[in-house]
Amino acid sequence: MKFIFFLLSPLLLFATSDFITPMEYASQLYKNPRGIGCQKCHGNNGEGMLIAKYVHKNRKKSFVAPRINNVPFKKFYKIVNSRTKGMPRYFLTKQEVAALYFYLHPNDKKKMKNVK
Ligand code: HEC
Repeated sequence: MKFIFFLLSPLLLFATSDFITPMEYASQLYKNPRGIGCQKCHGNNGEGMLIAKYVHKNRKKSFVAPRINNVPFKKFYKIVNSRTKGMPRYFLTKQEVAALYFYLHPNDKKKMKNVK
């Protein structure tokens, strides 16, 4: 009996991973997008964050990751997959970027449908 359970357990794992909701998937991707998690700089909900303060040429400066939960999808997609000052470059598929966008705009279902 134990043996049968052992044989079936990988199937059980698969079965449960199939049942994560799109939002759970999106939230995991936001925190682990094959690279440093977006929340480390942009905050848990993309609200933006102060990363560091420093002095440059006797002037106080701050390095800030901007708010990203109000960026339109086209711009969002372009920036995530390009080289941007201060931000690491990611290599995410359109579906993955769409999932991140969905995570940051949970009420924006209409726009999600236009994403392919
Ligand atoms: C190391 C910190 C860091 C991480 C990690 C990071 N970003 Fe950024 N991001 C920045 C900084 C800094 C800017 C501002 C760049 C600039 O002003 O040119 C930025 C800009 C952006 C912008 C443009 C915002 C605007 O209005 O111009 C988007 C969209 C964005 N990030 C999305 C993401 C997503 C999605 C992830 C995760 C896949 C992510 N970022 C991870 C630091 C980070």
